[in-house]
Amino acid sequence: MTKKVYIKSFGCQMNVRDSEVVCGLLLKEGFQIIDNPDGTDIVIFNTCSVRKHAEDKVWSEIGKFNVRNTHNANNANTTKPIIGLIGCMAQNYKGGIFEKAPAVDFVVGPSDIAKIPGIIERLLGSRPTTHDPQLCDVRVWETDGTSRPEEIYHTGFYEDKEHAYVVISEGCSNYCSYCVVPYVRGEIRHRNYKDILEEAEEAIGKGINRLTLLGQNVNAYKSTNHQAAESPVGFVGLLGLVNEVKGLKEFSFVTSHPRDTSLELFSAMRDCGKLKKYLHLPVQSGSDKILNLMNRGYDRKFYLDLADKYRKIVKDGVLTTDIIVGFPTETEEDFLSTRDLVERVEFDAGFIFKYSTRPGTEAAKMPDDVPIKEKERRHQIILELQKKISKNKKC
Ligand code: 5AD
Ligand code: SF4
Repeated sequence: MTKKVYIKSFGCQMNVRDSEVVCGLLLKEGFQIIDNPDGTDIVIFNTCSVRKHAEDKVWSEIGKFNVRNTHNANNANTTKPIIGLIGCMAQNYKGGIFEKAPAVDFVVGPSDIAKIPGIIERLLGSRPTTHDPQLCDVRVWETDGTSRPEEIYHTGFYEDKEHAYVVISEGCSNYCSYCVVPYVRGEIRHRNYKDILEEAEEAIGKGINRLTLLGQNVNAYKSTNHQAAESPVGFVGLLGLVNEVKGLKEFSFVTSHPRDTSLELFSAMRDCGKLKKYLHLPVQSGSDKILNLMNRGYDRKFYLDLADKYRKIVKDGVLTTDIIVGFPTETEEDFLSTRDLVERVEFDAGFIFKYSTRPGTEAAKMPDDVPIKEKERRHQIILELQKKISKNKKC
């Protein structure tokens, strides 16, 4: 009988795309994807570790499944679904997940997602009908992979019928001191530009006409595996090539790092007719001291100049950002520098986060010394300010 799979995604667009990739792989193996957990045979949580809050949401969600299953355990005809935890938390906690969440049957890190159908088949063949952890010792975790096979991007499954996310690079080598991504998703790896263009054409063949190119730091893109005689393709080159894809109406990209953002990129944004005039350029802080501690590789002046040049070159270009308040040692003066930067740049939108310690990162070695109440106050001030700016800009 066809087995049903329900996948729930947490976190960023990268996870949304990874979930699609997993769906595509499972559909190819004859599984059915459903959009409601009731009556499912398999539940997969695709998780995010970027902030503690994101992880807490997942623990609470898994907890709900435990409750549901305890209830179901009274009914002899129902067994607990197989539960899988994939994505960044899988890589972060590995086998430790089973101790924290005994209901979980398999754990698969971001570089091992191609193995998921095989793991489920294995569990379906061998799992007992009860899920008492004492009785069930069939538990699997795969978190050793370093790269994904190219084929997984070509299953042709896209949630949206008009828009597709196309991964151009995986991982990140920036090691911003607060960020867990380089540890859970590994160092940056780039897909070959020919494979990216092929996937774009495949998506367009399915009736899709808008694309978003995805990576943690798209500006660092450099195509590998090209023929020896070819010169490497960088991010701006890739934008030019995607712009030429027949049948494509519009495309965009996320996320950019200010240090790797060039005037050449702004010119490409001005000149590529199909490229959306939208730039998400996380600043994180307006204080030089904090930017330095964050290991961002630029200072306040560099960012302000960059934003200014963007506005001059990309007429009517949208500019959005991410900001973290309450980073270790952030004083009132540092915070006011961030507030001042937000006022000066007048972002179209901003995502404001309260700093949360991520174990294993460099910042975790610093004292998390901004009290939560103060983080909340700073968060609220920037949130309100940005709301006002966004509203004024829309008028
Ligand atoms: N605490 C708070 N926010 C964080 N981000 C990344 N790591 C942390 C952390 N430890 C934010 C950054 C990043 C966005 C995706 O999440 O602003 O740009
Ligand atoms: Fe994390 Fe910095 Fe890489 Fe963004 S650029 S994913 S914040 S390490």
